[in-house]
Amino acid sequence: MASTQSPPSVFGSATYIAPDAIFQVTKNYLADSDPRKVNVGAGTYRDENGNPWILPSVRMAKEAIADAGHEYSPILGLKLFRDRAVKLAFQGMKAFDDNRIASCQSLSGTGALLLAGMALKKAESGITEVIITEPTWSNHELLFSSMGFNVSKLPYYKAGTFDFEGYIQALRSAPSGAAVVLHTCAHNPTGCDPSKEQWKEIAAVVQEKRLFPIFDSAYLGFNSGSYHDDAWAIRYFVDELGLEASICLSFAKSMGLYGERIGLVTFVTYSPDLTPTMESILENVQRATVSAPPFYGANIAATVLGTPEIAKQWAQDLVTMSSRIKSMRQKLYDELVRLETPGDWSHIVKQSGMFGYTGISPAQIVYLRDKYHVHMATTSRISIAGLNDSNVEHFAKGLDDAVRTIE
Ligand code: LMR
Repeated sequence: MASTQSPPSVFGSATYIAPDAIFQVTKNYLADSDPRKVNVGAGTYRDENGNPWILPSVRMAKEAIADAGHEYSPILGLKLFRDRAVKLAFQGMKAFDDNRIASCQSLSGTGALLLAGMALKKAESGITEVIITEPTWSNHELLFSSMGFNVSKLPYYKAGTFDFEGYIQALRSAPSGAAVVLHTCAHNPTGCDPSKEQWKEIAAVVQEKRLFPIFDSAYLGFNSGSYHDDAWAIRYFVDELGLEASICLSFAKSMGLYGERIGLVTFVTYSPDLTPTMESILENVQRATVSAPPFYGANIAATVLGTPEIAKQWAQDLVTMSSRIKSMRQKLYDELVRLETPGDWSHIVKQSGMFGYTGISPAQIVYLRDKYHVHMATTSRISIAGLNDSNVEHFAKGLDDAVRTIE
């Protein structure tokens, strides 16, 4: 008779990995049946009623493309999308006129960073270390360490603001030739960006130490309402200083195409001769990971960018989203002032983009969740887009109570 006992499992040494903290917040929110619940967790835009917002420009594009079919995209992605997204980000720059920009459609911002890292390895760039900020988007460390890079962290935040002195000093001591991840705007999670003068000093160190800049550009348009204005740092590094760089774009936030996974990885190089080489490498690493990128979302984004009246509507949509977030910052701040909540909350209105960094403790976060059904990241980050006229007072009251009750 055959033995009923199984041989030792190949999974016997596997250890359970805790779920991603941000996606877990959304899960907890969805499972919460209290009608007062508030979701200020993930960075997803919500309208004034707390609902996901399909941008009017995206609706127009969907009508325009009607039934575009279900064929594979090329491995590098939809050419029209790539060309129009490159034009959006780089038109007017010398690198654009010189054809020094290699591009590849990616699975949103995460996919863009992944392809950037993989291509840097495949290109034998010699880059072994990736420098990120502390704090940063929770996925940066996981992403680059999973690719085998050493990841180091530079201090970024102090007392409600960008710790410029701490950051620049640490950057000066960073190993030459490393890659450095820069948040083009709307720093995630702190909402604190360098000023133009500070960017210039950062760029000088990047140039002097021959660091390779990777611009994580997931929130263009969310600071000022203008895609172009929010991309200032890219133009400064690439055009003004003529540096090589990787610019990683995502249309998840700026077009509300979260689930479509639409992004673009680009490499700006010193020579047009390097463009086909870097595109061949991007094509190779794309094939090795996802084969071909999504077609439908790329078609939507390409139509938004390439149809003048839809592009005009999109510019308006960015203003709608960024203005509503700004007005919620102000309302939250005003409410905390009215409640005389202990502490200085002015950073809420000084920070910009989708996020605010409250600085409250883990125990206060748990208190807010259990008593007020407020769901937020354990880092104390809040997605301001989750606030609206119907819940901002409830949120402020909870914050006030948590700060007064829990040390
Ligand atoms: C966030 O930071 O909340 C978003 O970018 C969602 C994510 O993937 O973490």
